[in-house]
Amino acid sequence: MQLPNRWNSNHTSGLSSELSRCKRSVQESDGVMKIDTKLIQSVGGLGDPHHAVTTPIYQTATFEQESALEFSEYDYSRSGNPTRAVLEQQLAELEHGTRAFAFASGLAAIAAVTRLLQPGDEILAVDDVYGGTCRLFSKILKRSHISVRYIHGTTAQDFAREFSDRTRLVHIETPTNPLLKVVDIAGLAEIAHQHNALLCVDNTMLSPYLQNPLVLEADIVVHSATKFLCGHSDVIAGAVVVRDEKLAEDLYLIQNGEGAVLGPFDSYLLLRGIKTLGVRMERQQTNAAKIAGFLSGHPRASRVHYPSLLEKKSFAIHVRQARGNGAVVSFETGSLEISRQIVEGLKLFPITVSFGGLQSSVSLPGRMSHASVPAQVAAHRQLPADLIRLSVGIEDADDLIADLAEALEVAEGVPELRASAG
Ligand SMILES: Cc1ncc(COP(=O)(O)O)c(C=O)c1O
Repeated sequence: MQLPNRWNSNHTSGLSSELSRCKRSVQESDGVMKIDTKLIQSVGGLGDPHHAVTTPIYQTATFEQESALEFSEYDYSRSGNPTRAVLEQQLAELEHGTRAFAFASGLAAIAAVTRLLQPGDEILAVDDVYGGTCRLFSKILKRSHISVRYIHGTTAQDFAREFSDRTRLVHIETPTNPLLKVVDIAGLAEIAHQHNALLCVDNTMLSPYLQNPLVLEADIVVHSATKFLCGHSDVIAGAVVVRDEKLAEDLYLIQNGEGAVLGPFDSYLLLRGIKTLGVRMERQQTNAAKIAGFLSGHPRASRVHYPSLLEKKSFAIHVRQARGNGAVVSFETGSLEISRQIVEGLKLFPITVSFGGLQSSVSLPGRMSHASVPAQVAAHRQLPADLIRLSVGIEDADDLIADLAEALEVAEGVPELRASAG
């Protein structure tokens, strides 16, 4: 499906109205249900005799068989569970895939994708990936003789130069975590396919509400469902979604064969969280746009990272492939010490490694979520030590901005510490 480009501004001011005007600019045009309806409608017939309006939790390890020789639809919850099945079907629909697989965490989902590779194969990855993904790629896959190379650029051409005859998987996030760089999904899919490689997109940052990489010809979508899909910071979960039937068969073999499945109760919590994904995302990204606007006018924030603040070319790619800017904003101050003081001075943003919840939170990625990046990879990717990442929640934006203003002002009281910029 060709995605229409209806965004025409790269300024944060006026973004909220632009967002609502273009809210569904990349809309399903095939006559099927719109995403706001899809999020609410239960999918799949569970055959519940009581017609429960929410999906029941099948908290069982195993299922009784009709006879010793006849299997029923479900036999063992690692291989399949009705609550998880409803969730997987809904995730497949939301991402325009044919099948989805729910895992015990986002990293378990990404690890499952790497199981498609053979010893000797190579992964090309955008360098600004989540720290845990980097640790998996750089430290653990090495044991299976799978290598990884990180690409600093974000265009399809930046990647095209780096393919070798061993490249089998391209792994990207867009926008990336935590620098919010945008990678061209469709351009990269074309180049990956020319080299007989698969393109896997970690869609955690925007969620299926704002971006659908499979529609842009990516082969695999992964999620840390712990983040926006869940939205309530009470579940660790992951998902893999694909369109291709053969890939789906392989992934089912890996999911069942290795067993890192999502349990029934967590599947239920995720189903509950997904129902409000649309309203949460709308509110969160409206707040995030206001905060990005506030920060970009503040002298203490030396650089602000948010898709709408990207230079023209990258923003044009973003609006071609996404329906919004998301709810994560990061910024630099020029000093690790000042950043630490800001982070610790905030009252409405608890310091947490995660993002995507209803409640705003703050982190220093270099010291927290990305501390697991191996030293030489960290040096190559140039993650600013003073980078502050904000996950913007559904609170009143004025309160969040007032809290930020105060923390920035207090940190301003120690200008001599700018000398320690790291
Ligand atoms: C973009 C991204 N992908 C994957 C993961 C890993 O997910 P999980 O923590 O659910 O294992 C994270 C975690 O922060 C993330 O930010």
